[in-house]
Amino acid sequence: MKKVYVKSYGCQMNVYDAERMTDVLAPEGYAQTDVPEEADLVVLNTCHIREKAAEKVYSELGRVRVMKQERAAAGRETTVVVAGCVAQAEGAEILKRAQVVDAVVGPQSYQRLPEILRAAERGRVVDTEFPIEDKFDALPALDARRVRARGVTAFLTVQEGCDKFCSFCVVPYTRGAEVSRPVAKVLGEARALAEAGVREITVIGQNVNAYHGEGPDGRTWGLARLLHALAEIEGLARLRYTTSHPRDMGDDLIAAHRDLPQLMPYLHLPVQAGSDRVLAAMNRKHTADEYRRIVDRVRDARPDIALSSDFIVGFPGETDGEFGETMRLVADVGFASAFSFKYSPRPGTPAADEAEQVPEAVKVERLARLQAALEEQRRAFNRATVGRVAEVLVEKPGRHPGQLAGKSPWLQAVVIEGARLAPGDIATVRIDRAGSNSLFAEAPGVPFDATNTSAAPSSVSTNVFAGEAAFAVD
Ligand code: SAH
Ligand code: SF4
Ligand code: F3S
Repeated sequence: MKKVYVKSYGCQMNVYDAERMTDVLAPEGYAQTDVPEEADLVVLNTCHIREKAAEKVYSELGRVRVMKQERAAAGRETTVVVAGCVAQAEGAEILKRAQVVDAVVGPQSYQRLPEILRAAERGRVVDTEFPIEDKFDALPALDARRVRARGVTAFLTVQEGCDKFCSFCVVPYTRGAEVSRPVAKVLGEARALAEAGVREITVIGQNVNAYHGEGPDGRTWGLARLLHALAEIEGLARLRYTTSHPRDMGDDLIAAHRDLPQLMPYLHLPVQAGSDRVLAAMNRKHTADEYRRIVDRVRDARPDIALSSDFIVGFPGETDGEFGETMRLVADVGFASAFSFKYSPRPGTPAADEAEQVPEAVKVERLARLQAALEEQRRAFNRATVGRVAEVLVEKPGRHPGQLAGKSPWLQAVVIEGARLAPGDIATVRIDRAGSNSLFAEAPGVPFDATNTSAAPSSVSTNVFAGEAAFAVD
C-alpha cells in the first residue's frame, strides 16, 4: 500500500481540507502516515496569510528535497504536492522556485487529486482553477471508520471564501468569493459525523457568521438557524463555530448563545485594532465602540461566555496613540484567549502599498506589550475557573498514565486525573488547579460546592453544561 504524508499550516479550513484530501486519496490506495520519510506522496497544505507562514513552505520544501533524494537513492519514488493558499497565490511560481515540487493544487481543486497525480507522472502540474462544479459534491462521502479514527471532535466547513476585502488580507484572493454550502449537505455531513461517534462539531468558514445557505424550504438560512438544526442531531452534544466577523453578529446568532445549550459559551470575534482610524483603513466596517456594544449584547445573552479575538499591531500608519487604543479596548473587553500578529504586508493587498509602513522594531515592541496584557487576561480567566464545576468532553488519554485530556465548555484544555472515562464521555468535574496551559480536575465523584452548579456532581453525564456563572476577569 502507498503512503501519504500531509502537513497542514494555517487555519481550521486547512485542517478540514487536509482530512478531505486523505479521504480522496484513500480509494486510490494511499494510507496516511505521520512519518514523512515513509511517504510515497508528500502534501504540504499551505497558508499565505503572513509572509512568515508563506516562507515556511520553502524551508520545508528544502527538507523534502533531501528526503526525496535519499529515497531515490534507495530506489523509491516520491511525489511532492503543494496545496492550500500559497499554491493558489503563487501557482507556477512555486515550480520555478522549488524543483522538488511535482504538482501545485489550489484549495478549490484538491477533489481532483487522483487525476492530478496521474498527470504529474507525465509532467509537472498546476491546478488552481476555481471550478464550476461544487468541490464538496465531488468529495467522497465520509467513511465512519476514518472519522472515528480522528476523534470525538470534528470541523465541518459550511462556508468558504470571503467578500469582505479587509485591506491587509489575502483570503479573498486565495479562497475566492464567499460561498455557503446548502443546509441539507451540511446536516447530512453532520449526521454522518455524529453516527461515527463525533460529539462536538465546530462549523467553520472564513466568515462563518455570514453563512447564508439554501435551506430545504428553498429559503436562505443564516448561521443561527443552521445551529438550531444541528442541535437536533442525536449524539451531538456540543456545537461551536469560527471565525466570525463583528459585522455579521446578528441578533438571532446572539440569541442562540442564550437559547441553545449545545452551543458552547465561547466566541472568537476578531477585532484587529482599537482605533477607529485604523479600523477604517483596514476596511473592517465597524468602530471600536460598535465592537464593545456587540460584546455587551453577547454577554447579556450568555454571561459566562469566553471571548477570543485576533489583533494586528503595526498596521501602516498606526501611531503610538492609536496602538494605545487597542490596549484600552483589550482592558475594557477582557479576553479569555487571543491571537496577535505583527502586520505583514501581503502582495496584491491594498495596505501593502501604503507608504507609511511601521518600522519592525516598533511592531516588535507593540506586540510584546499587547501579548503581555492578553496573556495576563488568559491566566486570569483560567484562574477564575478554578473551584468551579464544569462539564468536560473527554477527547483522548492524557500525557501521563491515569490522565485524560479534554475541553471545558470555554475551550480550555482540561486534564482529568484518576478517572475511568473514555473519549466521547462528558464528565462533570470540579476544576481544582490552573497550570500554565491546562486546567486540572479531579475525577468525578469528588466533593464539590453545590452552590456552584445545577449539574449532578458525581455522574458522568451526556448533558451539556448550562451554568450561568459569569467570569470576572480581574
Ligand atoms: N476571517 C477571519 C480572519 C482570517 S485570517 C476574520 O475576518 O477575522 C486570521 C487572522 O490573521 C486575522 O484575523 C488577522 O488578525 C491575521 N492577519 C490576516 N492578514 C494579516 C496580515 N497581512 N498581517 C498580519 N496578520 C494578518
Ligand atoms: Fe480576511 Fe477580512 Fe475576510 Fe477575515 S473578513 S478573511 S480578515 S478579508
Ligand atoms: Fe491561511 Fe488560507 Fe487559512 S491563507 S489562514 S490557510 S484561508
